[in-house]
Amino acid sequence: MKPNIFFNSNLDSPEEWRAALAMHFGDFKFSMAGDTENPENVDIALVWTIPDGGLERFINLRAILSLGAGVNQLDPTRLPAHVPLARLVDPSLTRTMVDYAKTAVYRYHRRFHEFERLSRHSEWKFIPPTLTRDTSVALLGLGELGREIAGALRHEGFKVLGWSRTPKQLNNIQTFTGRDGLASMVAESDIIINVLPLTDDTRHILRRELFSHCRRGACLINMGRGLHLVEADLLEAIDDRIIADATLDVGTVEPIPPAHPFWNHPHILVTPHVAGLSMPETASKAIAENIRKAMAGERLLHQVDLGRGY
Ligand code: NAP
Ligand code: GLV
Repeated sequence: MKPNIFFNSNLDSPEEWRAALAMHFGDFKFSMAGDTENPENVDIALVWTIPDGGLERFINLRAILSLGAGVNQLDPTRLPAHVPLARLVDPSLTRTMVDYAKTAVYRYHRRFHEFERLSRHSEWKFIPPTLTRDTSVALLGLGELGREIAGALRHEGFKVLGWSRTPKQLNNIQTFTGRDGLASMVAESDIIINVLPLTDDTRHILRRELFSHCRRGACLINMGRGLHLVEADLLEAIDDRIIADATLDVGTVEPIPPAHPFWNHPHILVTPHVAGLSMPETASKAIAENIRKAMAGERLLHQVDLGRGY
């Protein structure tokens, strides 16, 4: 087997990916936009985004493999419907997402967001610490990433709640489904973390209507996608003191433009889409497995259901 792989990403290093794939395949072809000879021979598109000109010229494509856990950036509606699409599940990506979530949760739990503001005004104010069991954290999304984050926070002693499309039974985690379930969950939560995929159902889910059900003074952590959030509604909810503070790893437009009100906002911390990072050394194992499956005509691991959008 000599897979012919087309690679496209403005975030991932082609050299690192070529080297990582060489650990799994004795012989393979690897090309990028501009240097693909005979596009009809390409088997696999390994991509973060779709290249200019689309994928149509790869008429014998066997699989499209996302370099991210999310696939919305590939706009699945524009992809050839007969070619299977898989999202990425990588232990390094999961680990970095868990670390980010724990860091952001502890920043709120131990009131560092308040001490940061107070210290800028030279204010020495004692805010007593509380135990993790007294802080409730809600997760929107209980998939590969949400489940791991939920488990890690539970392990730290936090009260953890989680919401998904289909019912889940998880140890010591209270789970919810449906829009009513979501409203009930956020009403009980001090910190709300979004790790949903972006789909037609989840676009703008973080909006005024949801904030109206939140506990007064809740904190929001958006690790999903920028378009999950109605930005103006968040600013309004912060002004109304419904949401006390937000940590936003993703923006509607990335990078967030210089004049955007999120920058320098006293109750918003922006991080530049760094919550999770996939690493070729670890991620290439699952990618290689999927390349083998695609070459054998088998169903892919983590294959996206295009009807569901994730
Ligand atoms: P996943 O395994 O596909 O899990 C998705 C979860 O969302 C599942 O629990 C699913 O419910 C739930 N869900 C989907 N649509 C829903 C709806 N309409 N209502 C309620 N729940 C819904 O995805 P993942 O690997 O955990 O990744 C999740 C997302 O994280 C990615 O799509 C991406 O947006 C984001 N992400 C961000 C970064 C970053 O650096 N900021 C990095 C990686 C990923 P079911 O379990 O019932 O199917
Ligand atoms: C990053 O945002 C990813 O989807 O992996």
